[in-house]
Order: sequence, then C-alpha cells, then structure tokens
Amino acid sequence: MTVTLAPDVPGLAEAARLLAKGELVAFPTETVYGLGGDARSDRAVARIFEAKGRPSFNPLIVHLPDLETIERLAEVGPKARDLAQAFWPGPLTLVLPLRDGSGISPLVSAGLPTVAVRVPAHPLAQSLLRAFGGPIAAPSANPSGRVSPTRADHVLEGLSGRIAAVLDGGPCAVGLESTIVMADPEPVLLRPGGLPVEALEAALGAPLAIGGDAGRPTSPGQLASHYAPNAALRLNATLPEPGEVLVGFGPVKGAMALSVSGDLVEAAARLFHVLREADRLAGPGGRIAFAPIPETGLGLAINDRLRRAAAPH
Ligand code: TXA
Ligand code: MG
Repeated sequence: MTVTLAPDVPGLAEAARLLAKGELVAFPTETVYGLGGDARSDRAVARIFEAKGRPSFNPLIVHLPDLETIERLAEVGPKARDLAQAFWPGPLTLVLPLRDGSGISPLVSAGLPTVAVRVPAHPLAQSLLRAFGGPIAAPSANPSGRVSPTRADHVLEGLSGRIAAVLDGGPCAVGLESTIVMADPEPVLLRPGGLPVEALEAALGAPLAIGGDAGRPTSPGQLASHYAPNAALRLNATLPEPGEVLVGFGPVKGAMALSVSGDLVEAAARLFHVLREADRLAGPGGRIAFAPIPETGLGLAINDRLRRAAAPH
C-alpha cells in the first residue's frame, strides 16, 4: 500500500519518519517528483533500484538543503562554486568528486569516484530535507525508461504498491529534470534540463562543452529510448497524419497543446503530463505527432526529451 501524504506538518513528519526507517518516499521538487531514500543506507538505495527496475550501473542524484551540507561529502571546485552560488537552490545538478568518508552508499554513485548533487528549490523538498536531516538519494519517481512524473498521481500510476508513500505537492513548476553539469576543471554539459544552457554560459562567461552520449550511458537520462510513451512519436509535425494525435505549440494547433502562446516555460512544465495524456488518447498501437519546438532556452531540453521519447523502443 502506498499512502498519499498531505503537504503539511504531519505529512512531512511522516515522510521523514519513513525515510529514517529506510523506506522510500516520493516527493515533489521544482523539476519532477523524486523517488527518495536515505543516501547513506545501502538497503534503502537498493530498494530504489528495485522499485524503479533501473539497471544498477546508473548512479543517482543526492539531494541536500544547501551548499554547506554538500561540501561535507563532495569537493566543490571553483567553477562549481560559481554555478552553485548562481543557481542553487534550483534545477541544476553538479557532478563533483566524492570525499573519503562521505558516508554515501557506494550504490548511489555506482562505484564512480564522483557524486551528482543538487539543492532543490521546492519548499516541500527543502522542508523534507531539513526534517529528515540527511542526504536523500532520488531519481525521478517513475519506472525505469518511462515518462518522468510531474504530479503525485503520475507517481502512483507507475509505482503504487512499490513505495511507502508519496508526498503530494501538486504539479511541478519546471517540469523537466535538472540540468547536469560537471563544472571543473572544464565545464561539460552532461544532460540538458530545467536550467537553460544560455543561463549557465552567461554565469561561466564561456561556452559549455557538450558531453555524454547515448552509446555511453553515464546518465540514464541519456539512454536513447528513455522517456518512452507507448505510442509511436513523430516530431516537427505541422499537420496530423490520419490517426495521429497532434500536440500543438504556438501557431500549430492540435488535439492538445504544450503551450498555445508558444511559451517554452509553460511547455516544459506541461511536457510529461501532455505526453501521458496524448498516449492515453492515442490508445494501444496509436501515434502521436509533436509540433516543432524552437532549439533555444528550455526548448533544447524539451527537444532532447522528445527525441528520446521518439527513439525506437
Ligand atoms: O531533476 C532531477 O534531476 C530529478 C529530481 C528528482 O531531482 N532527478 C533525476 O534523477 O532526474 P535521475 O536518476 O532520473 O537522473 C540522474 C542523472 C542520471 O542521468 C545519472 O546518470 C546522472 O544523474 N548521474 C548521477 N551520478 C552521476 C555521476 N557521478 N556522473 C555522471 N552522471 C551522473
Ligand atoms: Mg529519470
């Protein structure tokens, strides 16, 4: 049985109590819902992999309330510090060298000498981290390879009965996973996400190298067929073919829209919800077409997720 916890003091206390017992609790962040477990507990982390059905070579993101607590377990280099100061709390994940004696379960980093860390901005995520008082490992709260959850009912659709609880904080404001960067010695983008690359480049005062590739799955989000809906997907469509559900954007009108006004922030926030709705509408063996999305700002991450959703699976 998975219980739904209200976003109030008793709900937070119960969520923190379950985490302290080694149980799994899904919780809202500004990006997507995370599937949280105590990052220091091998058993809790193993349960995360089991609940998601995730290949265990894929490392997880550790969530903490601030830079200070992160510095206890990882080395924050000069460029990482600049980015942390500019964008935390927020939709940025930094990959940092892990300190000896960090206490983080080796399962979290899948044996790598580095750890991915992030300070979420969502007030409930912040409250939960402070109530729990320790690092929370949390991948997106969906079965491996499926669409990420941006609402509590999305979490339940995929993981009901497999986790202890979900803390219901309503829809996620950003709607795309965090942007992942390895900042030092030279900054490399490992996954486009909810923080636009242009903002990172402005803060660094230099262009960002693009790293990671689908053939080398250092990031599960980088696997070619990640975020798979059931229906087949066609991108850059301006008109639906017979039998297709067209998802519009701006001037391209469809059965539903990512953003009628062509707003990329709204489109990002709605993306995973709309993918689920279009999948339902298309039905078994159905087909979905997406209107073109510009390759700027959050459009980069939206197109990245759409290409992966469209990859053969
Ligand atoms: O917005 C987000 O980042 C959400 C919320 C819940 O915080 N979390 C999320 O986690 O998207 P997940 O597990 O779905 O994606 C984590 C990504 C993976 O692509 C993983 O490979 C990468 O982080 N990652 C983790 N540790 C890493 C490391 N040491 N080096 C490189 N990539 C790493
Ligand atoms: Mg994920």
